[in-house]
Amino acid sequence: MIIQPRVRGFICLTSHPEGTAQHVKQQIDHVKSKGKIENGPKKVLVIGASTGFGLASRITAAFGTDAATIGVFFEKPAAPGKPGTAGWYNTAAFENEAHAAGLYAKSINGDAFSDEIKRQTIDLIKEDLGQVDLVVYSLASPRRTHPKTGVAYTSVLKPIGQVFTDKTVDFHSGVVSDISIQPVESEEDINKTIAVMGGEDWKFWIEQLKDAGVLADGVKTVAYSYIGPELTYPIYRNGTIGRAKDDLEGTVPVLNDLLEGIGGISYVSVNKALVTQSSSAIPVVPLYISLLYKVMKEKGIHEGTIEQMQRLFAERLYANGEIPLDEKGRIRVDDWEMREDVQTEVAKLWKQITTENLEQISDIAGYRKDFFNLFGFSFDTVDYDKDTNEVVKILSIKE
Ligand code: NAI
Repeated sequence: MIIQPRVRGFICLTSHPEGTAQHVKQQIDHVKSKGKIENGPKKVLVIGASTGFGLASRITAAFGTDAATIGVFFEKPAAPGKPGTAGWYNTAAFENEAHAAGLYAKSINGDAFSDEIKRQTIDLIKEDLGQVDLVVYSLASPRRTHPKTGVAYTSVLKPIGQVFTDKTVDFHSGVVSDISIQPVESEEDINKTIAVMGGEDWKFWIEQLKDAGVLADGVKTVAYSYIGPELTYPIYRNGTIGRAKDDLEGTVPVLNDLLEGIGGISYVSVNKALVTQSSSAIPVVPLYISLLYKVMKEKGIHEGTIEQMQRLFAERLYANGEIPLDEKGRIRVDDWEMREDVQTEVAKLWKQITTENLEQISDIAGYRKDFFNLFGFSFDTVDYDKDTNEVVKILSIKE
């Protein structure tokens, strides 16, 4: 079928198999260009492995250290006349490339919050790998059904305490406008968001993997967080999502206690703001990212998800010597985003930005390109008017 982008707000309803394959290939090429990561992980479980930081982590593990990878995610398979989701096509492309390179790669498609998917993953590790030495936790989801109580939680993206008013952009139309977001009405909204995006599920995973004996001695586990600049504090770090991130970060000592007996350790890595399916849903953030891209590209320090994850593995998690941590014990690969010169420049542009000057003083064009790239669109090498085979299979998934 001919697959063109069909956009609804911050979501693209269609994905292109050839474009997504191109996107995955570019990421693999980046990791290969950086050379092998010495002492990297060898058997890796990535939870949330099909898009964004999770996919980039899986690619870095596979092509940066020849690791065997198991990826867990929740994606819609392709069917005749109905393209699959981007994460489905990404994984199909990833597995093709990994297998061609002689690497073990298998995937599990289902709800990672459930006990059933945890059991399936444990069974697969036992059968094929025995144990894993790195667990990457990179889920981003708007809802979670609690595996013990069956309660379904939906997260909210709201400020806490007071109305937040600031600029935002509709990145398709390029209209910059003011947006006012009402604060949470009750503690309940905060708790729901913590239930979805906090650390409990990460803990459940590590507990169950450990109890099953599938974590290797010295295992590492890492989850991803975000801080960002003061201008996004009300909606991000001091808002409901920030509370969930506090909870996630607060899970690190709990996991360290759990892993002590096998010499394991857990980390949270604070990553840079980037265009992913999740971040495009947060008001204000896309405008900030457009300005951040502009400033970081001009300074020659821009990174995408793959550059971030390659640096996380090579220069933090598996670098020689002690891993540098901030005062709260977190790994920081948002260090370049948070540089004073970068933030001063972004803050200056933030004050000036309007619909009229958006194209000149921000990198909205780069934002849009990255957004469409996520779904396999806007690649020069792909002819989007041509028929393509939408029914692409993931090698390891039997339907
Ligand atoms: P993403 O939307 O690209 O990826 C989310 C992944 O989770 C996908 O693989 C998806 O299939 C999987 N997933 C969602 N619900 C699932 C479920 N119920 N069961 C199994 N898999 C499920 O998101 P992104 O942006 O890569 O986020 C990953 C982590 O990185 C999050 O913790 C996010 O807060 C964090 N982060 C994101 C930043 C950004 O700017 N995008 C910045 C810093 C941290």
